[in-house]
Amino acid sequence: MKIVVAGTGYVGLVTGACLSEMGHNVTCVDIDERKVQTMKKGISPIYEPGLDELLKRNYKENRLDFTTDYVSAYKDADLVFIGVGTPEREDGSANLDYVFGVCKQIADNVENDCLVVVKSTVPIGTNDKVEEFLKENVNNDVHIEVASNPEFLAQGTAVKDTLFAKRIVIGVESKKAENTLREVYERFNQPIVVTNRRSAEMIKYASNDFLALKISFMNEIANFCEIVGADIQDVAKGMSYDPRIGNKFLNAGIGYGGSCFPKDTKALHWLANDNGYELKTIKATIEVNQNQKYKLFRAAKQRFGSLKGLKVAVLGLTFKPGTDDLREAPSIPNVRRLLDEGAEVVAYDPVGEENFKKIYPTEIEYVKSPEEALKEADLVFIFTEWDEIKSLDLNIYSEVMNTPIIYDGRNCYAINDVKEKRIEYHSIGRKAIFNIEEARSEVAATRM
Ligand code: UGA
Repeated sequence: MKIVVAGTGYVGLVTGACLSEMGHNVTCVDIDERKVQTMKKGISPIYEPGLDELLKRNYKENRLDFTTDYVSAYKDADLVFIGVGTPEREDGSANLDYVFGVCKQIADNVENDCLVVVKSTVPIGTNDKVEEFLKENVNNDVHIEVASNPEFLAQGTAVKDTLFAKRIVIGVESKKAENTLREVYERFNQPIVVTNRRSAEMIKYASNDFLALKISFMNEIANFCEIVGADIQDVAKGMSYDPRIGNKFLNAGIGYGGSCFPKDTKALHWLANDNGYELKTIKATIEVNQNQKYKLFRAAKQRFGSLKGLKVAVLGLTFKPGTDDLREAPSIPNVRRLLDEGAEVVAYDPVGEENFKKIYPTEIEYVKSPEEALKEADLVFIFTEWDEIKSLDLNIYSEVMNTPIIYDGRNCYAINDVKEKRIEYHSIGRKAIFNIEEARSEVAATRM
């Protein structure tokens, strides 16, 4: 079976590498020649633990190849996985130009009967349209069928999530397509859920949107905890013992980011509207997240009045730890607001610096350690819970900052630990503790 994967982003590249690791012959197609040459050397263009090893091993053992020559690749393909991006359009809908661009290339060149498998996250009904398009445009007299096979990998754990997936979802309209995909996934030895194409497309959106809803729910409860004096971490812990709730995705913070949740919530909401239906829970999920992003910035503004001229340290830039991806990262709009306020921003991130520089090349200062960022800072924002940041000795804050005032968007520290150090600490869903000004005036008063 000759498998071709279109697109070498997160979904395409990880799929291609993992299929070859399971013994299949896979060719990955991309339009970027430089990227193709890099991947042939076993270097992944994306930061993803374990991926380089898979590329190196399977390329060396001739199971995995990379090419820009899509004409030859599609010509004798038995199976084409489409793993290209479906970015958000201005109105929130999904942009399918890349998907149909690949379909045109397949239709022009395929000479074998072929199963086209859509892995990209696409609106419900797209697989039907893709099949219609392929059948109308195919050049040669071949049978083309389309199947949906959504992807559930998360960045940072993509290889593990694929090789040891919790489930494989296959959306098909024929037994033949089902059998082909069962054969592809046989060696993965994971539960396979077979549905029709539209249900498979919906499973992907419903899964991502449910997780986003869970986060927004916890963020709202966290905000309310602050008002009534409860602690969100204790609340989450207490909830998590109920197996119907589970213990995952209960962490409150400054909102979800990344290339999936923001885009997929908006796309499903848009699609529902377009079909004359309002998804109220998804609408609320999006609104809560939008509001949550600026929660700590607003708190700092209220606390300081103006941030003009203050030295602000920023720890963590990526949308979550374990990735260099900045898409929809809360750090981006927050840094914008800090700069608009006239603050002087010094940032540290273990892997996100290069990408952040593409957005803010000169407007902020970049440093190589949290300690450097904190030096003489008036306040600090934490946007990503990297281990380097979570394990930082709390004494550092008091020792090197001008005033140890922390706005922690990821609840990195235990309240009791921070309390002991006499650090002013604002976090999410837990009461702010200690006020450095009040403490200083108390000390001054006792000295008089
Ligand atoms: C997400 C899903 O988790 C994957 O299952 C899915 O396949 C993928 O989207 C996709 O559609 O491609 P990903 O975007 O890589 O994966 O990242 P997550 O680990 O889900 O985190 C997303 C955001 O939610 C991050 O900003 C993270 O900080 C935030 N989050 C996560 C919370 O705020 N609280 C939590 O408890 C968990």
